[in-house]
Amino acid sequence: MERNDAKIKAWLAQRELDCLYRKTRQVIGKQQVNLTIDGQQVLSFCSNDYLGLASHSKVIKALQEGAEKYGVGSGASHLVTGHHYEHEELERELAEFTGREAALLFSSGYMANIGVVTAMMGRSDSVFQDRLNHASLLDASGLSGSKMIRYPHNNMASLTKKLAMSATKNTMIVTDAVFSMDGDKANIIELVKLAHDYKAWILLDDAHGFGVLGDHGAGLLEEKGLSQQDVPLYMATLGKAIGVSGAFVAGSQLHIEYLRQQARPWIYTTASSPALATAIRQSLKMVRSDDWRREKLSDLIFQFRRDTASLGLNLLDSTTPIQAVIVGSNNKAIEISQGLLKEGILVTAIRPPTVPKGTARLRITLSALHSEEDIVRLVAALDKYL
Ligand SMILES: Cc1ncc(COP(=O)(O)O)c(C=O)c1O
Repeated sequence: MERNDAKIKAWLAQRELDCLYRKTRQVIGKQQVNLTIDGQQVLSFCSNDYLGLASHSKVIKALQEGAEKYGVGSGASHLVTGHHYEHEELERELAEFTGREAALLFSSGYMANIGVVTAMMGRSDSVFQDRLNHASLLDASGLSGSKMIRYPHNNMASLTKKLAMSATKNTMIVTDAVFSMDGDKANIIELVKLAHDYKAWILLDDAHGFGVLGDHGAGLLEEKGLSQQDVPLYMATLGKAIGVSGAFVAGSQLHIEYLRQQARPWIYTTASSPALATAIRQSLKMVRSDDWRREKLSDLIFQFRRDTASLGLNLLDSTTPIQAVIVGSNNKAIEISQGLLKEGILVTAIRPPTVPKGTARLRITLSALHSEEDIVRLVAALDKYL
């Protein structure tokens, strides 16, 4: 954008006209399904706190105790004096949980994706991306300087053709495990086969699967029984089902050591607070032990899909807590979202460029803390406004 305030104002005004203006809302109190936002009490279906751990008393207590013992700030980057015993233990536990040799903590999923792709891929390389991949993966390709080749969503025939036509030696297939705006899963078994056949890396971004999928919550890896050999680079976030913040990459000792030397978003940033690592370790314990949270979630997903089946919604096929209703136009999506808010129900309208043009939608996310009655309320409100 040119340094010209009149042009910036005109651009902002156009965004507003196109119903694409992004605004923050202010939450007061704890992150929970009954939320106070912009002064209104709402029943929220917007958070990625799928297991309801973000405000769990044990996680809060762990954070408090961590801060008491270790202070608040880490004080420096991991390679200076910021790497704490709590970070080390958490990395060890994450590696063990995901069945990998090692893990590396990042301050966010966005940084982890940038870190991995820019470390592994360069100008003469190619990165193959599902068309619906998360923005952080697309940005990571751009920053790496490699050639980005996008294939239609989950279209394995197209990807096979593109891989076969590629003359690049170093290639990487990158995919969301659970697509963040659609809720469906990657065809990971087929992707693993293709990566094997074409000697490509696989980077699996399990931001929305970790904690939720698999019998014990170890994500799509656990659900599909994928080894370190199958998926050498596994990324998951700690701010969604885990309820805190941050992310990690897990893989072989060799690959993680390489990232430690090369991943700039890990090297050149202050390590996250050790107290956060203490909180994540507590949350991880509950992810592993509280099977009831995943069971409850899956019951709620079933109930939601069963009860909306007769409403004629354009509901995407999804067995995950992300349930998307395609509306089409931006203003229609906003109108419906505002209608739901009048009923005290918060569902955000997701518009381009987050999703492809013409596919504005309501992105409904379910949490283990929702009740059956909450779903009944949601379905009735959808019936009224859609
Ligand atoms: C698929 C996916 N990858 C990565 C991210 C980024 O993670 P974080 O919020 O920890 O930066 C998100 C969401 O924010 C996501 O949905």
